[in-house]
Amino acid sequence: MSKLWGGRFTKETNKLVEEFTASISFDQRLALEDIEGSLAHVQMLGECKIIPLEDAEKIKLGLLQIREKITSGEIKFAVEHEDIHMNIEKLLIDEIGPVGGKLHTGRSRNDQVATDMHLYLKGKTLELIEHVKAVQAALLTQAKDNIETLIPGYTHLQRAQPVSFAHHLMAYFWMFERDKDRLQDSLKRIDWSPLGAGALAGTTFPIDRHRSAEILGFSTVYPNSMDAVSDRDFIVEFLSIASLIMTHISRLSEEMVIWSSQEFQFIELDDSFCTGSSIMPQKKNPDVPELLRAKTGRVYGNLIGLLTVLKGLPLAYNKDMQEDKEGMFDTVETLDGSLQLLAPMIETMTVNKNQMKQAVNQDFSNATDIADYLVTKGMAFRDAHEVIGKMVLYAIQHQKFLLDLQLAEFKEFSPLFEEDIYEVLAPEHVVAVRQSYGGTSPVQVKKQIELAEEKLG
Ligand code: ARG
Repeated sequence: MSKLWGGRFTKETNKLVEEFTASISFDQRLALEDIEGSLAHVQMLGECKIIPLEDAEKIKLGLLQIREKITSGEIKFAVEHEDIHMNIEKLLIDEIGPVGGKLHTGRSRNDQVATDMHLYLKGKTLELIEHVKAVQAALLTQAKDNIETLIPGYTHLQRAQPVSFAHHLMAYFWMFERDKDRLQDSLKRIDWSPLGAGALAGTTFPIDRHRSAEILGFSTVYPNSMDAVSDRDFIVEFLSIASLIMTHISRLSEEMVIWSSQEFQFIELDDSFCTGSSIMPQKKNPDVPELLRAKTGRVYGNLIGLLTVLKGLPLAYNKDMQEDKEGMFDTVETLDGSLQLLAPMIETMTVNKNQMKQAVNQDFSNATDIADYLVTKGMAFRDAHEVIGKMVLYAIQHQKFLLDLQLAEFKEFSPLFEEDIYEVLAPEHVVAVRQSYGGTSPVQVKKQIELAEEKLG
C-alpha cells in the first residue's frame, strides 16, 4: 500500500493504527468543500505562475470529474488514505496522472482542513438561520391567532397572573431572534480564510492568499498563519450558539409536554407528531418534544468535548484537532433536524382556548389586581398585600375563588371595595390593563407582533 507520505517510512502502518487515526468515515462529509478549496487553490497557483496554466487547467478538470463521481455515488473512499484530503488527492492522481501531484504545492493538510471546515460551517450556518426563521414564523402564526386567548402565566410553576397566550409564544420568538442574530454575527468570524497558511509558517511560494480567499467568497484572510491552522474558535462558537438554541427548543418542548398533558390540556399536538404506546391503547405520547428536550444533552456534550480537546494544545496543528469534526457534524445534524420538526409541530398544534379560559377563571391569579385596586383607592401597597393575603386564605377555606365572594364579604376586609371590583377581577380585564411597554395587554402584544414581523422581513 503506497501512502502519499510513504517516502520516509520503511514499514507498513499497523492496521489498527490506520483505523484509529483515519477520519475518512466522517470527514467525507467535507468532500465538496475540499474540492471547492482545491479548485480555488489551483486557480490561484496558475494565476500566480507557480504551476503552468495548462497544469492548473488539467487539475481543475480532474477535480470536476471527481466531484461528479462523488455526487453520483460512484466513489468509495479508502481508509488507507486516512482522510478526505488524501483520498481526493489520490483519486486525482489516478484520474489525471502525476500532474495531479502539483495540486498540493504551497499548501498543507493543516490549512486545507481548516479551509474545508470554514466553508462547511459557513454554508450550514446560513441554512440554519433559515430554519430558525421558519420556527419564528410558526410562532408568529400561532401568536396572531391567540392574541385574546388567555392562559395562566406562571412563576415557580405556580399560577401568577393571566397572560395572553400570544404573549407567551412571542417570548420564544425573541429568544430565537437573538439566536438568529448570534448565528449571523458568528459568520463574521467564520468568514476568514486560512488557506495558504501552509503547515504553520506560511510558504516559500509566491502565493496570493487574498486571491484564493476571494475565489472562495471569504471576506478576509487570517493575518497569522499559526492562528489560521490552529484556530477552532469558530467551531466552539457555533457549538455554543447551538447549545443555546437547543436550550430554547428544550424549554419550549417542556412546555408543550406539560400543556398537552391530561392535567393541563391546553394544547393538543397533531397526531402526526405523536406516537402511541405498545401496551396502553389510550396513550398519545409527545415523543417529539420529549426527544427535542433530550437531544439538547448531546449538543452540550459536543461543546464541552471540543473545549476539552482544545484546552491544552500547544500551537499549532495537533492531531487532537481531528476530534473537532464528529461533534460539529452531529450538532449541525441535530440542530437542523430539531428546527425542521419544531416549526410544523408548532404550526399544527391545536390550542384549546376554552380549557385555558376555564383555567384562568379558576385560580387566584387576579390577586395582584385587587391589591392594585386598593392602592388606587389610597391604601399603601404593603397594607393592601396583607389584606388580600387574608382574603385569599378566607376564600381557600370557603372553597371559593375571589370572584365568587359577595360584595359584603369584600367589604369585611376593607370598606374601600365597591361594585366595580368584579370588573377589575375579570381575567380579560387583568390582562387588558397591563399596558406598559412589552406587557401582555392585547394592545401591547399587537405592537410586539408588528415589530416581530418587521424583524422577520
Ligand atoms: N484529518 C486531519 C484532521 O481532520 C487533517 C489534517 C491532518 N494534518 C496532519 N498534519 N496530520 O485534522
